[in-house]
Amino acid sequence: MKLRRWTAVAAVALATVTALNTLPATAGRPYDPTAQSLGTLGLRHGLHVGTAVDMAALNDPADPRYRELAASEFASVTAENVMKWESLEPTRGSYDWAAADELVAFAKRNRQSVRGHVLVWHNQLPGWLTSGVEDGSISTQELRELLRNHITTVVSRYRGKIWQWDVVNEAVSDPWDTPSTLHYKGFWAEHLGPGYIADAFRWARAADPRALLFYNDYNIEAFGSGDPADDKTQFVYDMAKRLRAEGVPIDGVGSQGHLGTQYGNYDTLQVAAALKRFAALGLATAFTEVDVRSRLTDGVQAGDSEEINPRLQASAANFSVLMKACLAVRSCLSYTVWGFTDRHSWVPGWFDDPPEGLATLYDEDYQPKRAFYEIKSDLIFAGPPYVLPRAIHKPRRAG
Ligand code: XIL
Repeated sequence: MKLRRWTAVAAVALATVTALNTLPATAGRPYDPTAQSLGTLGLRHGLHVGTAVDMAALNDPADPRYRELAASEFASVTAENVMKWESLEPTRGSYDWAAADELVAFAKRNRQSVRGHVLVWHNQLPGWLTSGVEDGSISTQELRELLRNHITTVVSRYRGKIWQWDVVNEAVSDPWDTPSTLHYKGFWAEHLGPGYIADAFRWARAADPRALLFYNDYNIEAFGSGDPADDKTQFVYDMAKRLRAEGVPIDGVGSQGHLGTQYGNYDTLQVAAALKRFAALGLATAFTEVDVRSRLTDGVQAGDSEEINPRLQASAANFSVLMKACLAVRSCLSYTVWGFTDRHSWVPGWFDDPPEGLATLYDEDYQPKRAFYEIKSDLIFAGPPYVLPRAIHKPRRAG
């Protein structure tokens, strides 16, 4: 590039940065990015920083801080449970929309985008569905029809109100499953075969032409051996590539981001490299359920700071690795935490043998932890040339 061109580019960059940093200033007071919410800081990059919302906590009058923070700190919300099939259709044929509608209304009032979670998953299915299949009263043909109806009904109800849908969740096995060779696992693959994945995306697209449609899974933050037989990221990559080639309207791949400080985990460059490979398929990406849990050893439970501090620091580092990788890749559209406070986190209830916890951004008393400040600083310090505004992803039409 010629010198004059460089000067022009530098001038534009400087003007942009200056504008970004002075615009929100109120009269007489300099702009202080540390006073901004995660949501606002993320939006400077076009990135939606969001949280999963626990509706019971949101509605608990004895716990007002939960609602305040859910409303003020985040630019996006996800239903932690209330859009799952067992919540929406507890009895066959009668939908209960109350809680899901309430979350969508809450998001609208607070100008937040909504990630819809989840249309097809093997967990939290209504009892009538699983028992009906088990006792043979629901045939394979009928099951496929039920799935099509479910997707059509739910997506149609929220048409235009959901930014991203998790259409299919956790369809792939893990190396510790039997057989250990990676494969399509769970209720839907067993009963309908893996073709249900393409069907689900097509049905969702037919019901909402504008929502971004995601495949969502865990343990796909970085590539491993490159062999789809034991590298889950590679398996999912191959699947997404095939779906695109077949004209299936999949827009993105969501990486849940459930990490633990006891594991090796990843560095920023590895994670960014994985996001870039998905982006090269034309797919959007997102971190959809980030939390970084730790073992609650006897020492931790007794309040021993020598055991607690390294865990809080490792948790912060892992939150930050995913945030920096996301910022670095323009197709990474959102970064959602799976609950924001240790007071309301699925971790202690789910990982209890041995006990785990300390997985979120705020402690049980809503004090921000290292992790909170670390991802906040990532958002503040990010900028050109390594961090650019998000890429535009148009919903894909079925081919
Ligand atoms: C979890 C919820 O957080 C819990 O409240 C519920 O009991 C079980 O499900 N991957 C997903 C989420 O996609 O839907 C799960 O949410 C966590 C793992």
